[in-house]
Amino acid sequence: MDTTLQTADSEALTPDSADPLKTSAAHARSAVLEELIRQAPGQFRVLTGDRPTGRLHLGHYFGTLHNRIRLQNLGVETFVIIADYQVLTDRDIADNLTEYVEELVLDYLAIGVDPARSTIFTHSAVPALNQLLLPFLSLVSVSELNRNPTVKDEIAHSRQSAVSGLMFTYPVHQAADILFCKANLVPVGQDQLPHLEITRTVARRFNDRYGDGGAVFPRPDALLSSAPLLLGMDGTKMSKSRGNAIILAADADETARLIKGAKTDSERFITYDPATRPEVSSLLLMAALCQDRAPEQIAAEIGSAGAAALKRTVTEAVNECLAPIRARRTEYARDRTYLRGVLREGNERANAVADATLAEVRAAMNSHY
Ligand code: TRP
Repeated sequence: MDTTLQTADSEALTPDSADPLKTSAAHARSAVLEELIRQAPGQFRVLTGDRPTGRLHLGHYFGTLHNRIRLQNLGVETFVIIADYQVLTDRDIADNLTEYVEELVLDYLAIGVDPARSTIFTHSAVPALNQLLLPFLSLVSVSELNRNPTVKDEIAHSRQSAVSGLMFTYPVHQAADILFCKANLVPVGQDQLPHLEITRTVARRFNDRYGDGGAVFPRPDALLSSAPLLLGMDGTKMSKSRGNAIILAADADETARLIKGAKTDSERFITYDPATRPEVSSLLLMAALCQDRAPEQIAAEIGSAGAAALKRTVTEAVNECLAPIRARRTEYARDRTYLRGVLREGNERANAVADATLAEVRAAMNSHY
């Protein structure tokens, strides 16, 4: 998920998957972008999204979702793709698609995605977006895809025994997802920088080859979020598929139970030390994010009261933070007609934008008959 594009489900960064020089340049650029966004949010269009593979959890929330709402509320126009075709990048069958898509829309609405300002749409419902994939594929070489560290990483963690063409070309369809609406800003985690680099390459090559001196596509910038990494309750990465995640939609009791069973360590005195005490520190971080406070401060307050007190604090903080989201979610869940309407309208808007872009692309390529 994201972040952004950092998906909280994509595995942790492998040491060779990001070039440190590029990463620090991207951080510097992101700081500049943040300032520009504050000054002129109307100059930006964001594309972001998720694959509908299950419920969103707290890792997604603090990793990417929170940041999307922030950008939307700053006045940046936002497109949110529900990447249903891309579910098939790392598995053979897309299970429970309708359910997962609707649950995702519910989660979005509950956390504050405003359909009046943000366009929520499903990938498969926008033919003109998907048609961009063919010309875009012609702009990228097989060896460029082969070298892409994010593709390598995703392949390494795939559940499939063979690499499908869909997986191999992931960065190219992501380029279509981003460029169809001429988004110029993509909030991502650093593991996704190589993907975005391919989008930039596609945009540049398309413009060079067909732009006739002008630019059909912007070269979108990555907006790196300083997404904190939350561990799951078993001390490994929080992930939909591992059963260790605090789901946004879970109820307060379920959340309490999950946190009660969380892994801690044998030291009674609670301190915030992510390097040597990852599980305890991740719990502190979770409470801190929920309360918008420093984890060290929460640790100091708990001190010698130990892990049980820590868990009580975390449970309270999480349930309090999620209560309004969960209440809104329950409200929206009652009105499936509204939900489907949000998606239908989002798809209509995305289709109108995609049709216009495809018309431009075909004209640029002299294939307007
Ligand atoms: N890959 C993202 C995920 O797994 C979803 C996604 C698809 C996306 N296309 C995108 C995100 C383009 C950002 C930009 O959740």
